[in-house]
Amino acid sequence: MPTSQFSVKQVTTTPFEGQKPGTSGLRKRVKIFQQQHYTENFIQATLSAIPDGPAGATLVVGGDGRYFLKEAVQKIIRLAAGNGVKKLVVGQNGILSTPAASNLIRKRKATGGILLTASHNPGGPDNDFGIKYNMSNGGPAPESVTDKIYKITTTISSYPEADIPAVDLSALGTKTFGDFTIEVIDSVDDYVILMKEIFDFALLKNFFKKRPDYKVLFDSLHGVTGPYAQRILVKELGLPESSVMNATPSEDFGGGHPDPNLTYAHDLVARVEKENIDFGAASDGDGDRNMIIGKGAFVNPSDSVALIAAYADAIPYFKKSGLKGLARSMPTSGALDRVAKKKGIQFFETPTGWKFFGNLMDAGKCSICGEESFGTGSDHIREKDGVWAIIAWLSIVAYASESNPKVGLNDILNKHYEEYGRNYFSRYDYEEVDSDHAAKVMSHLTAFINDKASIGKKLGAYEVATADNFEYTDPIDGSVSKNQGIRIVFTDASRIIFRLSGTGSQGATIRLYVEKYAPKEYKTETQAAIQDLIDVALALSRLREETGREKPTVIT
Ligand code: G1P
Ligand code: ZN
Repeated sequence: MPTSQFSVKQVTTTPFEGQKPGTSGLRKRVKIFQQQHYTENFIQATLSAIPDGPAGATLVVGGDGRYFLKEAVQKIIRLAAGNGVKKLVVGQNGILSTPAASNLIRKRKATGGILLTASHNPGGPDNDFGIKYNMSNGGPAPESVTDKIYKITTTISSYPEADIPAVDLSALGTKTFGDFTIEVIDSVDDYVILMKEIFDFALLKNFFKKRPDYKVLFDSLHGVTGPYAQRILVKELGLPESSVMNATPSEDFGGGHPDPNLTYAHDLVARVEKENIDFGAASDGDGDRNMIIGKGAFVNPSDSVALIAAYADAIPYFKKSGLKGLARSMPTSGALDRVAKKKGIQFFETPTGWKFFGNLMDAGKCSICGEESFGTGSDHIREKDGVWAIIAWLSIVAYASESNPKVGLNDILNKHYEEYGRNYFSRYDYEEVDSDHAAKVMSHLTAFINDKASIGKKLGAYEVATADNFEYTDPIDGSVSKNQGIRIVFTDASRIIFRLSGTGSQGATIRLYVEKYAPKEYKTETQAAIQDLIDVALALSRLREETGREKPTVIT
């Protein structure tokens, strides 16, 4: 490879307001990122915040294919070289799913990675773009690092930019510029190798051969997972090409909202019902979320993580090493707790957000974890993993079919409910509420939990057992996270939880989570089962009166 040198010039800049990374990096409208110096400032702050500095670092770079990705990668190349970074490992055409990037950081023992995604937010010139930094363990940067990034953005006055011309990211291979190397790699290869280490592909292939009538339909929602699903489901597992829909990553996700839930994955939902699909699945823009459905069946994400843990023997990766521990975010239903208890496995309840699982995994205390927000994963990487969850569920179906050859998703769910009882769960989101109104709602609830007389109080048919604002002490580093959500638990283990979203960009988003535990009954439709708890929650919080909202924006 010919080596061309480059020169570096210091570009003068001034700070932009609001470059504060949220729950998952900096997410803003594309138009904001397109302002002169805006993206460079944030990338420079990110490079400067790398704990051992950018000089000599190896970084993985890639994103979900959304609009502005290509420009952003070229900017990263010029700034990385200018900062003395040694090597960038870039996905072909800049494409890497978030789980694939997490895997590559770990596999290449990289310093970290820059992930270019706004996850499930819509894309295109009028929608969102995002930049996030992941650490050497493959997981999102902790607050100490994101705070440092933010601090640097408030004082930045220049950045060193190398005069490297636009690099062709469609061609695989290594390009060197002086001491700086760019390796463009296949976006999918390493991820497929990892999945083959975790799951029994031969067994799955055999299952599909034995049940040629078993219909699978995966919807990539025009996000990043299309190429991954085609390689795994079609090429490796032998399913027909038609098993993957919306498989070409598009810069604006086909004009859709790439979030896998019953509302936004409507085309998939309709086809599953109309075409009698046994197994339907979807993933979000960057491939870390998942949804599993079948004709007449919906796997609630809180149940999904519990069933994956219950069926751990169906997955060679867990069968080999056993389960080191299980964890869920606080609002996620208690279905997982019951599996942990029955199997005698240590269990953790963490605040909302994937970053809290990372410490547990790095310390060897957690194998499987999940959140109610369509996130499921394991310690194979340090991000949630949509395609992994889908293969895990296919493994469960193949495993269960050994004793019941015609097994369907509902049979699997009902068997689980028979054994453990059912945790009916639903989340109501009230988006873009006036921040003062949201504060009022939270203050009514705070008054209730602070009142000692609340314990033992009857609310509708329920008696309050405990009421608090969730606080978490990280068992590994001792750090304390306060104010993680108001939770009211009733004597029958039902719960209502309120918290304010940490990812919303307009006003406040109130999330109301309700959970009702039914030890024996499992055939009621979820919304009917939880209706009386919703009534209790709305009355107690005075949400309707304070916000004027009769209905939530989204129900999941
Ligand atoms: C939301 C979800 C949370 C998830 C996060 C990032 O955060 O509730 O579970 O980890 O997105 O995908 P929130 O807006 O509730 O703070
Ligand atoms: Zn995502």
